[in-house]
Amino acid sequence: MLFFREQRLSLEQHKAFGRRFGELHVHPAAPATALHPEVVTIHTDESSRQIAGYHWHTDVSCDAEPPSASILRLETVPVTGGDTIFASMYAAYEALSDAMQRFVSGLTAVHSGIRVYRDRYGMTENPRDGAGYPVSEHPVVRTHPATGRQALYVNDGFTTHIKDMNPDESRALLDFLYEHARKPQFQYRFHWEPDSVAVWDNRCVQHLAVWDYFPQVRHGYRVTVQGDRPFYRASSDRAGVPRTQAVS
Ligand code: SIN
Repeated sequence: MLFFREQRLSLEQHKAFGRRFGELHVHPAAPATALHPEVVTIHTDESSRQIAGYHWHTDVSCDAEPPSASILRLETVPVTGGDTIFASMYAAYEALSDAMQRFVSGLTAVHSGIRVYRDRYGMTENPRDGAGYPVSEHPVVRTHPATGRQALYVNDGFTTHIKDMNPDESRALLDFLYEHARKPQFQYRFHWEPDSVAVWDNRCVQHLAVWDYFPQVRHGYRVTVQGDRPFYRASSDRAGVPRTQAVS
């Protein structure tokens, strides 16, 4: 993650910053800004019944090619609370035993947009093509395309089950992985000020927006960068791939 204070960016400047990381992603369900379909409005006030980011998640992992980076800038922050908590999925993966790493690395998970599309935005179908909620399969452990490091890639917001497992096995394994991934030693908690900007890498970080400030207002804008199809490559195949510092 990267954090910047005192960034008074227009939406054009926000998008231009995002484009330095790649092509911008257009969220099919979240409220976009007039004239700026690539900008998602993040807003909570006294009439809110839900918030974006209430569950631990990586952004839009129901897409076949989920966003790589997300860039959030808040303009209005509550007097108290409203932090975002990030967790390193590199650290979570690396803290698993060798046996558990081997076990989960061969698995595939199913990610669905139903919780976000239906439960948060009240949609009955995918606005991109009218063909139901988006569903994608991704490896439970994904290899970061830039660093070659392995990261856990299942999340409470989008992952519905693990493929080829009985439902109770899948539920038990996901619950174990979620509990493990949320350990405080993998986390960083960011406290917002007006005009703070956070940049995070969805390929190796999960996040959670803490809603502890009702009925206060929290308002800002998010731009996300189009990512690639997640893949898993065993570590022995990583020769020559640079290792970088863990996101902490
Ligand atoms: C999100 O999930 O992108 C929103 C995070 C936040 O509001 O802190």
